[in-house]
Amino acid sequence: MEVHIFCALPSILSSALEAGVIRKARDSGALQVSVYDLHELSCDPHKKIDDSPYGGGPGMVLRVDVVAHALERVFGRDASALRQDFPVILLTPQGEKFTQEKARLFVREPCLCIICGRYEGTDDRVRQHIASIELSIGDYVLSGGELAAAVIVDAVARLLPGVLGNRDSLLEESFSNSILEYPQYTRPAEFRGWKVPEILLSGDHERIRTWRKNKAIERTMKNRPDLLR
Ligand code: 6GU
Repeated sequence: MEVHIFCALPSILSSALEAGVIRKARDSGALQVSVYDLHELSCDPHKKIDDSPYGGGPGMVLRVDVVAHALERVFGRDASALRQDFPVILLTPQGEKFTQEKARLFVREPCLCIICGRYEGTDDRVRQHIASIELSIGDYVLSGGELAAAVIVDAVARLLPGVLGNRDSLLEESFSNSILEYPQYTRPAEFRGWKVPEILLSGDHERIRTWRKNKAIERTMKNRPDLLR
C-alpha cells in the first residue's frame, strides 16, 4: 500500500513513521509512505500556503489552489479526479469520526492520499472538489492534521497482511465485537502487595475465560457504555 501525506509540518510526522509497527510495515515492503511539505510544493511565489478568511474573522485558512497544485505535482493529473481512484482523506476536527471499521476499509486500498488540514481552517473547496472523505480522530482540537495522519497510518499499517502476528489480529477482532479488552497481568504475581487475581494463576482455563469475559463487560459498561448499544 502507498500512503501520500500532504501537510504543513512534516517533522511532526517523522518519528511516528520511523518506529514500531509502521517502521516494520515499511521495511517489509507492505507499506510505502511519502510525506510532502505543502510549502515546498506551493504554487505561491513566496511559498505561502494560507490566507485570511473571506468574510473576516480570526486565523488563517489553508488555500485550495496550494492543495490542488501540490497533489497535481505529485500525481501528475487533475487533483479533482484522484478521488475516483482511491480515498482522498481530508483531516479536520469537523470530519466524520475515524473508527476501526474505517481502518478495515482503508487497508483494502492500494493507495491513500491524506491532506492535513490546519486547525484554523481549510478552504471548503478542498472538501467539496478534491477530497472523497473528511475525517476527524476524536472530539478535541489538534493544531493540525499531522498527528491525526500518524494515528490513521498506524491503525491501517497494523492491519496489513503479514505485519502483525495472530495475537494482535485477535485483539483487533475484539474491538469489532464492540467490547473492550479484559485486564492483563504478567509476572511478578505480587508486587508491593499488589496481587494478580488468584484465578489467573489457577490453570482452570474454563473459569479464566468466564472471568475475562465478565471483566471485559464490566470495563466496557464503566468506560464505554456507548459500545454496548
Ligand atoms: Cl483530523 N484535525 C485536527 N486539527 N484536530 C482534530 C482532528 C483532526 N481530529 C480530532 N481533532
